[in-house]
Amino acid sequence: MAELKIRTVHAPVEEIRTPLLVLHIFERDKAPVGFVAKVDQLYNGAISRVLQNGDFTGRKEDTLLLYPPAGSPGIERVLLVGVGKREEHTVERLRRSVGVAVRQAEKLNIPDIAFSVGHVHHLSEGMGDYYAGLAVVQAAVLASWSFREMKSQPDEDQPRTELASITLVAHAEREARDFERACHYGGITARAENLARELQTRPGNVVTPTYLGERAREIGGEAGLQVTVLDRKALEKEGMHALLAVGQGSAQEPRLIVMEHRNGPKDARPLVLVGKGISFDTGGISLKPAQSMEDMKYDMSGAAAVIAAMKAIAELKLEINVVGIVASAENMPSGTAVKPGDVIGSHLGKTIEVVNTDAEGRLALADALSYARRFDPAAIVDAATLTGAIVIALGHHGIGLMGNDGHLLDELVAVGLRVGERCWKLPLWDEYREQIDSEIADLKNTGGRPAGSITAGWFLKEFVEDHVPWAHLDIAGTAYRDEPAPYLRKGATGWPTRLFIEWVRARAEA
Ligand code: BES
Ligand code: MN
Ligand code: ZN
Repeated sequence: MAELKIRTVHAPVEEIRTPLLVLHIFERDKAPVGFVAKVDQLYNGAISRVLQNGDFTGRKEDTLLLYPPAGSPGIERVLLVGVGKREEHTVERLRRSVGVAVRQAEKLNIPDIAFSVGHVHHLSEGMGDYYAGLAVVQAAVLASWSFREMKSQPDEDQPRTELASITLVAHAEREARDFERACHYGGITARAENLARELQTRPGNVVTPTYLGERAREIGGEAGLQVTVLDRKALEKEGMHALLAVGQGSAQEPRLIVMEHRNGPKDARPLVLVGKGISFDTGGISLKPAQSMEDMKYDMSGAAAVIAAMKAIAELKLEINVVGIVASAENMPSGTAVKPGDVIGSHLGKTIEVVNTDAEGRLALADALSYARRFDPAAIVDAATLTGAIVIALGHHGIGLMGNDGHLLDELVAVGLRVGERCWKLPLWDEYREQIDSEIADLKNTGGRPAGSITAGWFLKEFVEDHVPWAHLDIAGTAYRDEPAPYLRKGATGWPTRLFIEWVRARAEA
């Protein structure tokens, strides 16, 4: 797949050359404004007419394709895309409308799209030109991704033409500068997210803990990161008993992967990103039902996002120190597997009663969080497909957010809104802690049905040093989807790759 070109042009309407220009239209706007009015003139009033006679109402995600009068130059087609009511306009609606446009271009076999978003900048969240441009770039790059490497024959429903270029049309000098920055940053971040989606989508017989370690080495090597991979022997020496317990029923060895980006002041404390990397989660002896078990190949989604984000952070040369840690194992039932009731040790030294072997992610993460202490982190954020309970609480539209530091949580809520990976806070009140008390060990690995996502968060909190700001992202509902959205296909989403990178960028530039 050739790399998608992403660029900004700043030129008068007569000079624009494109096979497809996308224009976003608000619902109930009866006349074109700004740049749209200029295109309307070129098109002999065609846009005015369809708005006036009601052929196109701007209802969100509606489209209408227009052709120029014979002999017109430059803009070969115009696609009107509705974005709904002006007063309800959000950055997410903008992303969705971009996805709609990319799907239309695929149907028309058009590989190059230009977007003009000049008149729809005024987002209800108060974000300006730069974030509007960023939303367009990221949504287009995400929408153009597909996974075809395992098809031996081309697929009927797949587009015949891949998107080759996207162009942002700027209407002022300032806007052009903002869009150029958005093209650079949006391209690197959304491509990283697509890398995460590729790692997520590859099945469990390909993506093993060993494979993740090898890919992290390769990706990190190319990007200029320092990569360390701990194999089973090294994990034993290090005392990573909880991670080892998760993997002990599998023929695949577990791995701990560390990727370091050192581009800040020499002794500045790093930000640490931690990812759950269960390459397949059968549930172990507490075996999961067969229904949808195949989706458990996505149980390494947190790891995919960490690896992808580290690559982008290096490519962007962010001036900050960042460490990415992935705890990877395969959770299988077998004669050597950990059993319900077993008591295991951990890297931190706390003992854990494993009452359910399907609550394995928190075991793997506990050791990774404990391992992170050696980097003296300024803050830690982990991402994990940790609980089915978060899907019940938030469905597929938000990440469950927990942690020990109110400031960090607010920061992540704001970052998530900017990039479209929204987080919603859940409490870690003291009262929930007793649900994971064990009769015979320091704690047990499940807290029963009530508040299942919170007791999982509490378990992690037990392995984080109190004075280090830490946040946990439960991405079980958002890492993959059963239904396509306009700019994401069915399947892997790559979340929270954009969120990780934007958080680190904001910290680096603070
Ligand atoms: N990987 C699962 C969580 C999950 C569920 C991810 C659905 C994506 C979709 C996790 O390891 C798990 O099995 N959690 C259990 C915990 C329970 C045994 C306390 C769960 O949520 O059922
Ligand atoms: Mn599980
Ligand atoms: Zn799991």
